[in-house]
This record gives sequence, C-alpha cells and structure tokens, in this order.
Amino acid sequence: MITIKHLSHHFVMGKKGETKLPVLHDLSFSVNKGEVVSIIGRSGSGKSTLLNLISGFIHPTSGEITINGTDVTGFSEAEFADFRLNQIGFIFQNFQLIPSMTAYQNIELPLILKGINENERKKITEQTLERVGLSQYPNHYPGELSGGQQQRVSIARALVLNPPIILADEPTGSLDSETEASLLEFIRQLNQDLNITFLIITHDQEVARIGSRTLEIQDGHLIKGGNSR
Ligand SMILES: Nc1ncnc2c1ncn2[C@@H]1O[C@H](COP(=O)(O)OP(=O)(O)OP(=O)(O)O)[C@@H](O)[C@H]1O
Ligand SMILES: [Mg+2]
Repeated sequence: MITIKHLSHHFVMGKKGETKLPVLHDLSFSVNKGEVVSIIGRSGSGKSTLLNLISGFIHPTSGEITINGTDVTGFSEAEFADFRLNQIGFIFQNFQLIPSMTAYQNIELPLILKGINENERKKITEQTLERVGLSQYPNHYPGELSGGQQQRVSIARALVLNPPIILADEPTGSLDSETEASLLEFIRQLNQDLNITFLIITHDQEVARIGSRTLEIQDGHLIKGGNSR
C-alpha cells in the first residue's frame, strides 16, 4: 500500500540556502494493505518529516514513494492535492478542525471539495457522524466539544471520503490516558471493519503497541522494521 525506497531528506536553510540540515537518511520500508503500522522515535528524529514526505507536503531530496500502486515522487502540487483528497485521510495531534465550523460542517468539508451533491453529502456526513459516535453533536463547534470528541470529529473528517490510507501524527498526544485508550480501540475497530491501512506516528511505546508492527527512527535512520533494499 505504501512503499518507500531509499528516501532521504535534508532541509535547506540560511538566506542563500547555504546550510543543509540532513533529517532522513536512506529509509526503505513498506506497509501492506490493511496493516496498522506504528512509527516510533524521539522528538526531532524525523517522524513528522517522513509523514509530510509521504503526504506530498514536502518533496524528498532523493528516493521513491509509491502509494496504492502510484509512484507519487514526481507529482506536482496539484496532482498531490488531488491524490491526497482521494487516497489519504489525516489525523493530527491538535485535531486541526476549523473553529468557525460546526462538527457537521467540518466533516462535510472534504465532500464539498470533492464536488459531491448536497443530498449525498447529507447522507454521508450523517452516517459518518454516527460511525464516530457523535450523532448528538452535529451543531457543536470544536470549542464546545471535549478533546476526545474533537479528535473523533477529525477522524470522521479523515474517513468521510473513504480513503484506503489514514496517516496519523501523534493522534493521542493531546488526550488523557483513558480517552487515549478508547481512541486507539476505535482506530483498531475502523481498521478491522473498513480495512483501512493506518500509519501511526508516536513517541509513546504504549501507543505504538496499537500497530501490528513498529518501525523505529533514530536520528533520521530507520533502525528497526525497514527493508534492506
Ligand atoms: N521546515 C523545516 N525546516 C528546517 N528544519 C526542519 C523543518 N521541519 C523539521 N525540521 C527539522 O527536522 C528535524 C526533524 O523534525 P520532525 O518534525 O520530523 O521531528 P519529529 O520526530 O516529528 O519530532 P516530534 O516528536 O517532536 O514531533 C528537526 O531537527 C527539525 O528541527
Ligand atoms: Mg512530529
């Protein structure tokens, strides 16, 4: 589902781009359809950078990224934007909900971006609210929901276009341990029911156990779980 080959990345810094900051070094690994894979590593080890590369928000210095059979390495911004909308759902530590929009409107937004008609949008949005257990809260704004509820809205938004892959960057990082446990259980359930492939980034060994496999990054090197070629 995701194949990474010899992926390296450095950021270019300084006024004239004179400083190179190497962040990822020759990463190779793959994630199969329907797997839940955790990526663990200390702060600054390069986890979010890896996720940003897979999502096409930044472009790698070298290497290859294939997602669901498509080599996305050379994609333009526009190609990637379209690809992301159709193939990848995102869950972030700080939820990234739009504060001026209700739970319902936040979840409906990807359907609007995709040009889905109003009747269909209503049906899918209501179904998705129900799936995440928030049927009672369509008109609540993010500020009127608990952290766990906000994260469920963001999961609903990630799910609404039925992506085969969901990428999560510290999805439980802002939640207390009880809410964290129920959210992880919910992710496990989604993986079983919908066969969605999950790549979950965390610095927490406990959270990493949700994965059937764990990849470990240390100082930009994949020290566990990678492919040798
Ligand atoms: N846009 C950027 N420009 C320059 N350097 C960056 C940029 N983004 C990240 N870095 C650097 O790359 C390194 C890896 O950062 P990254 O955000 O990938 O770490 P992380 O593993 O996600 O850490 P955390 O657990 O704290 O979120 C850090 O040294 C960081 O300073
Ligand atoms: Mg990070």
